[in-house]
Amino acid sequence: MTVRVWDPLLRLFHWGLVGAVAVAWLSSEEGQPLHQAAGYVAAGLIAFRLLWGFIGPRYARFAQFIHGPAAVAGYLGAMLRGRERRYLGHNPAGAVMIVALLLSLSGTIFTGWLMAEPNRLAMLPTLPAAVSPAFAEEHESGSRGAVGAVSVKDLHGALADLTLLLVALHLVGVAFASLRHNENLARAMVTGRKRAPDPDDVS
Ligand code: HEM
Ligand code: HEM
Repeated sequence: MTVRVWDPLLRLFHWGLVGAVAVAWLSSEEGQPLHQAAGYVAAGLIAFRLLWGFIGPRYARFAQFIHGPAAVAGYLGAMLRGRERRYLGHNPAGAVMIVALLLSLSGTIFTGWLMAEPNRLAMLPTLPAAVSPAFAEEHESGSRGAVGAVSVKDLHGALADLTLLLVALHLVGVAFASLRHNENLARAMVTGRKRAPDPDDVS
């Protein structure tokens, strides 16, 4: 028997985000209009997700799956002993990864937006120095805006790399949890359905 866990909009959000981030990555070297458009699509999807985390159905709500450090540590400890329980929604470790992915993506998009127009950097005159004082010193001959544009570009690239690393860990986590509980979690993110919970499971 299976039960509905992920609602259609949450699934659309997930696979839409995968597509938008993939296009942003693949177009980062050339094709700025496409690159920026993909980034804005990702931004819109993240904005939707933040709202959905408060008003969406049960398993979409942040309050349902975001736990404190003690619960996360407890879950990781149980994982090391091979005794972690099955969660019908996101498990506590997966939830940390979800928050990390959303933050890292938001930072990537914000820094991309900042450097796409020089006057956006000028609106935040103190940011470039705060972001990279060492870099600003190294390039003190340039104007402030130009220094900022270079360092924000580095930051944008670094955040994009961090996002890619987190995505790789996310996939390892999905594969691991799928094996441990004998279910295809990627397929569940497509169909929205998962095996009905056992009495021992957290639902
Ligand atoms: C750019 C790549 C990706 C990003 C940014 C990403 C991001 C996310 C986010 C934010 C969530 C939370 C879903 C929510 O409640 O809103 C999630 C969950 C999930 N993702 Fe991804 N994802 C990516 C790629 C993938 C891929 C390629 C797969 C499949 C192989 C996948 C499988 C899953 C699954 C199964 C879940 C639910 C995990 C669970 O059961 O708790 N993701 N992902
Ligand atoms: C999912 C979101 C995004 C990802 C993964 C991403 C990724 C990247 C990467 C990897 C680079 C190359 C960095 C480097 O050469 O050091 C780049 C460059 C750039 N990105 Fe993004 N980006 C995203 C969103 C955005 C957005 C929303 C904007 C602007 C509105 C933007 C504007 C730019 C610009 C202007 C460059 C510099 C191109 C150049 O001068 O070579 N990006 N991005």
